[in-house]
Amino acid sequence: MLRFVPNAIMKSCWRHAKYFRLGKLQQLLRNKLPCTLILTSRSKSYYITTPIFYVNSVPHIGHLYTATIADAACRWQKLKYPVNTSQPKLVSGTDEHGTKVMQAAVAKQENPKRYCDDLAQKFKDMMKLFDVQYHDFIRTTDERHKVAVENFWNTIHANGYIYKGNYEGWYSTSDETFVNDLDVEQVIDRDSGKVYHIFKDTGRMVEWTKETNYMFKLSELVEQVKAWVYENPNSIYPPKMRKLVLDTLDRPVGDLSVSRERTRVPWGIQVPNDPSQTIYVWMDALVNYLTAAGYPEVNNDIFKDMWPADCHIVGMDIVKFHAIYWPAFLIAAGLKLPKQIVVHSHWTVNSFKMSKSVGNVVDPFDMAKKVTPMGLRYFLLRQGVIEYNCDYKEEMVYAVLNADLANDLGNCLNRAVAKHLNPEQVYPPFHQEIFSSNPNYVSSFVASKKEFEFIDLVRNLPGIANNHALEFHFYNAIGEIMNVVRKANVIIHRNQLWTLDKSVPDQLRFLQTLLHCVYEGLRVSGILLQPFIPELAEMLLNKLSIPRQKRNMVDAERSFLEHDGKVEPLVGNPLAFDKKVLYKRL
Ligand code: MSP
Repeated sequence: MLRFVPNAIMKSCWRHAKYFRLGKLQQLLRNKLPCTLILTSRSKSYYITTPIFYVNSVPHIGHLYTATIADAACRWQKLKYPVNTSQPKLVSGTDEHGTKVMQAAVAKQENPKRYCDDLAQKFKDMMKLFDVQYHDFIRTTDERHKVAVENFWNTIHANGYIYKGNYEGWYSTSDETFVNDLDVEQVIDRDSGKVYHIFKDTGRMVEWTKETNYMFKLSELVEQVKAWVYENPNSIYPPKMRKLVLDTLDRPVGDLSVSRERTRVPWGIQVPNDPSQTIYVWMDALVNYLTAAGYPEVNNDIFKDMWPADCHIVGMDIVKFHAIYWPAFLIAAGLKLPKQIVVHSHWTVNSFKMSKSVGNVVDPFDMAKKVTPMGLRYFLLRQGVIEYNCDYKEEMVYAVLNADLANDLGNCLNRAVAKHLNPEQVYPPFHQEIFSSNPNYVSSFVASKKEFEFIDLVRNLPGIANNHALEFHFYNAIGEIMNVVRKANVIIHRNQLWTLDKSVPDQLRFLQTLLHCVYEGLRVSGILLQPFIPELAEMLLNKLSIPRQKRNMVDAERSFLEHDGKVEPLVGNPLAFDKKVLYKRL
């Protein structure tokens, strides 16, 4: 095959060639290391949480989404942690107390604890199936959690933030929240003519309650919470949620009832020294983040290593509890506030809110059977945008997974490791002359401008993906990675690598070098895909025989160095003998 290299491309080769002279390359490396994306020092482990899930019903894709965002963020941090140090920690769990869980147990005619055991197990099963790697799973019915909640109560009580009072107002059991008069709307049922009241935010029914209970001096702490939000611009993220919280804090905020009469809410933790009262389920639930850090042992190394939490991931419906109540509770208890609360929007299904009554709840276990757990995980992270509600359509899931995982990623890997392109089945070498300006190397088989651009693309990928990931824009990080994968595929295609004659030295060198580029693109992409689709990324990296200890951010940042012969000894490594298809077309 005769190849014609246009002048403009040759000029571009000369421009880029300086990077590939050996001396220059080593200089470049020296300048680049130590790697900018690696954490070198830190005072505590990275600690991230999911909300704890109500066990009043089985898991759905909204729950999976929250859990997957938290897992991806935690794994992204792990990429950057030096091995052999205390690793980033993800904590999840189940919220098992309160009226709505009790009602769900009664409806099933089950003992509440046994009912909770079953449901908690379902959430654990979901985590396992979708490879959500939690360090701890807190159930609010755990004894250690009860100890934490009682201590927390006693502390804020001793600090003077709790008083006994009378609460009279609206309560929404479905939302487990007290509701302001202004947020309540009267509705008349057209069929029965019955009048009832709903919470405007969620459309759920509220009931008028009048009871004696304990009040928390939230109004006294509002200014401190506001100051925290102002002084820490990233404390509530994304910015539009921060604005929403600040707007809420600008309106009058009263004290908060933090207990319920035990006769009405028997399923919960009793207020210490008062058998007539149950601790408000949200205070109980929020303390789970401390339980996981070993609270009340605040002088313990574990607590010091974990608290304050680096990030609480929450859905937009529970912002108020996390961004207002939780900081206020923590201030009252004299504890540090979390570094960040990340709020994500919700998934609708075929443009409707997911709900049992509409009958459109998407079961992650069912979907996993159809598209695999990694497929669903990929879809949620690839399509989910935390700032906006996203719509789930099953046909869209199929389209995205076929295009990205089966066609782009799977195909590229398949073609790159096929015997007819790589008969020796080893990590191919990089011949510098293909990318160099050596005037003694006369061949039409030299890299074109596009290949130089590809190298830049791969080299820049870890930094770009990191910026997106730290903003929780996983869809962008994945988009950039998949762009590299697609371009790697195009290298094979554009250069028609399968037509090269391996018995002709300059064609063989050209083939090996461009294949090396494809492998490097795949290797770096595979490393960066680990937080999103761990199992598939593992298959990919295994296939390329990338050693386990070389799958970190630092390894993604070092690319195209093999020809230096010293830095990266991958070249010549046998590929794994593994015929498994990465992702079967659906
Ligand atoms: N138990 C409380 C959280 C207590 S945290 C101290 C709770 N539980 S929940 O099971 O109702 O919701 C758990 C998470 O799932 C929340 O972050 C919620 O926003 C999220 N989602 C529930 N439905 C969702 C969608 N349709 N889409 C995305 N996330 C959704 O709230």
